[in-house]
Order: sequence, then structure tokens, then C-alpha cells
Amino acid sequence: MPQIYNLSTVCNAVTGDCTFLGGMTVEKFVVEGEVQLCGQVTISGAKNATLPIMAATLLCSGVSVVHGVPNLRDIKVMQDILTLLGAKIVREGNTLIIDTTSINHMEVPEHLMREMRASVFLMGPLLGRFRKVRLSYPGGCTIGPRPINLHIKALEKIGTNIKESFGFIIAEAAELAGGEIHFDFPSVGATENAMMAAALAKGTTVIRNAAREPEIVDLQNFLNRMGAKISGAGTDTIRIDGVPKLTATEHTVIPDRIEAGTYLVAGAMTRGDVVVDNILPEFLFSVTDKLQEIGVQIEIGRRYIRVKPGDLRGVDIKTLPHPGFPTDLQAPILSLLTIAKGTSIITETIFENRFKHVDELTRMGAKIKVEGRTAIIRGVPKLTGAIVAAPDLRAGAALVIAALAAEGISEIEHIYHIDRGYDGLERKLQALGARIVRQNCD
Ligand code: EPZ
Repeated sequence: MPQIYNLSTVCNAVTGDCTFLGGMTVEKFVVEGEVQLCGQVTISGAKNATLPIMAATLLCSGVSVVHGVPNLRDIKVMQDILTLLGAKIVREGNTLIIDTTSINHMEVPEHLMREMRASVFLMGPLLGRFRKVRLSYPGGCTIGPRPINLHIKALEKIGTNIKESFGFIIAEAAELAGGEIHFDFPSVGATENAMMAAALAKGTTVIRNAAREPEIVDLQNFLNRMGAKISGAGTDTIRIDGVPKLTATEHTVIPDRIEAGTYLVAGAMTRGDVVVDNILPEFLFSVTDKLQEIGVQIEIGRRYIRVKPGDLRGVDIKTLPHPGFPTDLQAPILSLLTIAKGTSIITETIFENRFKHVDELTRMGAKIKVEGRTAIIRGVPKLTGAIVAAPDLRAGAALVIAALAAEGISEIEHIYHIDRGYDGLERKLQALGARIVRQNCD
């Protein structure tokens, strides 16, 4: 009898529709290693572009159409949150039709905020449209405490009055007025929240030391299609000329550069020949550059990247905000470096606690020492299969990649973490020749 884990149900206060949320059958991946991945894999739409864009549909009253939406648990959670707030959502394949005409709730309940940190993206749009929002703290996750002080500071700079009581944040603004926002750190989420709130503010807002991730450019493009006047996304200075009203629109999200990077590393670690297509290679130059330094052969086309085998050697990597090396690919590339000749040093500068995959890789025979935010990896000739558990989304992907190259059989548990951010991982890997199956944990 499969085990059921963490049941939660939400009901729409108005329609009374109940949504079954977070009920998950506990499953694992069983992987037979020592395969050479070979073939072509097509990348899905970006999770980290889709989530803020779904939230941004709240800025108008109308029917928005979003194409290229990946099939992920986090997207489903955001869908359920919007439904709870009063939206009507229809999914047709990779298209979401989001009707925000009858939004009538400006409060996001605690269990949903805990379910997914990205719920914090709802602050900006609900403030922008309704001038008020009440939500609980999103809480941290395994990779770090993840405070939202920069989000709050930014929203206060454009006229929001924020009260914090009993674990809730109550944000209200008689009027949102353009202002100067300077971030101490280029936070992705805080930049996106500020853009969405300021889009409907009176006057001009300038964000300095803004985050420059491609997902922020995609959000700017979506908002400008709604009638916003935003420029500078992708640079460290974003200018938002507020407009009185936004209207619903249609948009296709960008491909997922983190999913793409994960398959590039999987191809490299299995010494395979893999073409990753439907991507924008310029989003991944920090990654392809590092892979070449490691010794992997790289071929870059207009919308694809191909990896071919090479002699793997150790390198040093420091994760940084975009266009630096992405923290979300730190775990997968650490897996690769466990079998590279010599010593590698990885410094994680973005999150405080993002080496949870190290203990699991050590079970597979890796030689890694962690000191604070630095991991020192001594390459070994080969990993061996083991029973491991995914501690978080990207660490989970790193364990799957390690298992594909390892000798023997591995079992990877807690794969619900992986389902949060990888669309059809085992199906796509099987198409590249991987021996991986999903099984219930009995
Ligand atoms: C986004 O998270 C991504 N999530 C993360 O991807 C990604 O790792 C991260 O950006 C960095 O690239 C989504 O887009 C949904 P941040 P976000 O605000 O917005 C600190 C994945 O695997 N900080 O740039 O939460 C924070 O604690 C996920 O797909 C504050 O101190 O990232 C962290 O150390 C994981 N105060 C650092 O900044 C704040 O108010 C970066 O956070 C906000 C952030």
C-alpha cells in the first residue's frame, strides 16, 4: 500500500471549490548506472519565469494566456493559490488561461506560503491592484533562512505601509508613488516584486543594483505587453514609469536555463553525446565556459548546445548573481567534479546552506569536505550506487546525475523535491538511453 504524505486541502471561500493540495504518493527513482547518455532533449518553459508571470496576471482584471508552461508541482501550487484568491484557471497542454476578473481575496494562507516560497511574488501584484495584501512569512527552506527584508524595504520605498504581527505581514498603501529603490543585494524575488507593484504606481520608480536574471527580462516583457512602461531589465538599473491600468495579454515564457544546464552536466558526467535544444545559449555562457574548463567538448548553435566527452579535470567555481555561475546549477556541477581528476573548490555565495547533497554523494563514494560555504572536492575514478534521499530540488537532480554515472544500482528517495522543478525528468532521460524508473516507496 503506497504511503500518503502531508495532506492539505484548500477551499475557495466564494465558490466553495475544494482543491486537493500537496497530497503526494512517496516515490523514488531506481537508476542503473554506467550509461552514456546519447541523443537530443528538448527543454521546457522556465519555472522561475512562469511563477512571477502567473502572479503578475493579478495586476489586471481579464483573461491572460500564458504559453510554454512546464508541468511542475510548483506551478500547480501557484495555480491553486490563484484559484483560492478567486481566479478561474484552465490548463490546455502547456498553456494556462488565467481569468482574474473576479479576484476577491487578498490574503494568502500560511500553509500555502509554506508550501512554496515563490508565493511571496503575490505581494507586489496584489498591492499594485488592490493596494493591500495580507500574507504569512514564507518561511525558510533547506537551502537557507531566506528573509524578505529586501522585498519589504522596496515596497516601503514606493509608499507601502507594512505592519508585521502574529507571523503575518499586512501591507497597505493609500497610494503607490514612484521612488528610488537601491538593493543591498541583487535579489531576484525582490526585484520582481518591486517591478510588479511599481507598474501601477504614480510616477517613476528606479531600481538600482537590481537582479539581472533572464527571468526578470521575461517578466518585464510580459508586463510591457500588459501596457506597463518598464525598461532596463537585464541590467542593474530598472526604470518603471507607472501607468493607471494594465490589461490582460498573451505571452510565451522563456526556456528553462537551469533545466538545460542540468542535462548538459548529465551528458558530461556520463561521458555521453547530448544535444540540448529549445534554449537560448547566451543564458548559459557562465556554465558552458566552466564545462569547457573542466574538459568537456562544447558545441553551441543558435538554439542548442551539444556536449561531447572529454577528460574531466578539477576547477574552482564561485556561484554569483547572473551573469555569474548560477547557484541552481551548483549541486549538479559538484556531482560532475566528484569524478574529475584533481581537486576542485566550490564557493556558494548566494545561499547559506546549499551543500545538503554532499552527504548523499559521500554515500556514493565521493570525497568532499565542506567548510562553511566552501566545498573541497577530491576527484575519484568512479562513484558507486547507493540508497540516497533528495534533500531539495537541485540537490535531487545532482543525485540522479551521479547515479547515471555510478557503478551499479542507486535508489533516490524523496523525489517530490525533484518534481517541483523538472518536467518529466525520467521520461526525458530514458529518451537519452538512461535506465531510470519511478517506483512507489512501499
Ligand atoms: C530565486 O529565488 C529563484 N527562485 C531561486 O531558484 C534561485 O536560487 C534564486 O533566485 C537565486 O538565483 C525563483 O525564482 C522562484 P533571491 P529568490 O531573492 O528570489 C537573500 C530553484 O532551485 N535575500 O535572489 O528567493 C536570500 O536569503 C530556486 O529554482 C535576503 O537576504 O532568491 C538569498 O541568500 C531555489 N533578503 C539571496 O538573497 C531578501 O529580502 C538570494 O535570494 C531577499 C533575498
